Amino acid sequence: MSTPSIPKTQTAIILRQYGEPTAMEVDKAYKVPSLEEVTPTKVLIKNVFAGINFIDTNVRRGKYPSQLPIIPGMEGAGTVVAAGSEVQQLFPMGSKVGYMGMGLQSYAEYALIEADKCVPILDSNVSFEDICGAMMQGMTAHYLTSADGTYEVKKDDHVLIHAGAGGMGLLLTQVCKLKGAKVTTTVSTQQKAQKSKAAGADNVVLYANQDGTPTDAWVEEARKTTPNGQGFNVIYDSVGKTTFAHSLDLIAKRGMVALYGSASGPPDPIQPLDLVKNSTKITRPTLFHHVENAITLRHRANEALTWIASGKVKFDYVKYPLDQAAKAHEDLQGRSTTGKLLLQI
Ligand SMILES: NC(=O)c1ccc[n+]([C@@H]2O[C@H](COP(=O)([O-])OP(=O)(O)OC[C@H]3O[C@@H](n4cnc5c(N)ncnc54)[C@H](OP(=O)(O)O)[C@@H]3O)[C@@H](O)[C@H]2O)c1
Repeated sequence: MSTPSIPKTQTAIILRQYGEPTAMEVDKAYKVPSLEEVTPTKVLIKNVFAGINFIDTNVRRGKYPSQLPIIPGMEGAGTVVAAGSEVQQLFPMGSKVGYMGMGLQSYAEYALIEADKCVPILDSNVSFEDICGAMMQGMTAHYLTSADGTYEVKKDDHVLIHAGAGGMGLLLTQVCKLKGAKVTTTVSTQQKAQKSKAAGADNVVLYANQDGTPTDAWVEEARKTTPNGQGFNVIYDSVGKTTFAHSLDLIAKRGMVALYGSASGPPDPIQPLDLVKNSTKITRPTLFHHVENAITLRHRANEALTWIASGKVKFDYVKYPLDQAAKAHEDLQGRSTTGKLLLQI
């Protein structure tokens, strides 16, 4: 295949100072990495999609300080336009590729990525949308529910998933259903409840008032969805401050609370002795510790991609043009979205 022509400049989203979504500027003349920068283990990718994740809003606010300016974004899907001498065989020119990792700077037309963060896509029929879905969110749904990750979800387990209509919530619900579990979710609006139900949730409860403020009435409603009110075997809590104490309360004996995010803020501290009531296990896992090397990253990504590409798990997304990244962040942190947010490039 002949070398594609690579422009000198591109459109990229630049964060020069931490702040609100508008802190992200659109730069239409940002330098494209040169071929000299494609060292032996790197891959230069022309992005088709950059995925937006909730963690990006925290990076933008300065919760993970780094040397500014940066291009935000931790994942993408696109085609290989150049690859270093050691990785050309795995990443041939023109082939499809996905990638995920901290600080990979994906909100741009081009991304220069270390090959060990890249997943070669062997089936060229797989869509770029689905590839992006299998990256951070697909892999997270995989490790959270697997024996080699957080908790192996089993047939007839009772599972509670908070924020059930979000990007993670919709994927997790479907994966847990695939494994034969009974799933209850929490959401903030009726419209989100419908979305969560359509993804397969057996029960959906509203954990917020119409103005979005938290309520407690849902706790007993959720408990009643388990046999004899015994509670849930595993609770996937990505909301944190407004839900975590309730999650501890709703856990079954010897159950696991997986606090894997804190969209509403960090939860209040607890005492270790609070766990004795149900011999509760708590974990605060992160994907980055479950994809320590290229082998585990590609294994998880491929399993997630198989779920999605086979149609067993439907990847639900909404697309924003690249130059609308600020609007996408505003919508995500304002709780007005369902499913995954993709930046179309
Ligand atoms: N640990 C890991 O490995 C890992 C990996 C990926 C993602 N995550 C975490 O998973 C969570 C979901 O990520 P996502 O990208 O799929 O986002 P998302 O779920 O699509 O969006 C966040 C959702 O959280 C809920 N929420 C509750 N209180 C909120 C508040 N005060 N402000 C904003 N949102 C609030 C909202 O749903 P309702 O309106 O229904 O309440 C909102 O839609 C995030 O916490 C993220 O950090 C963790």
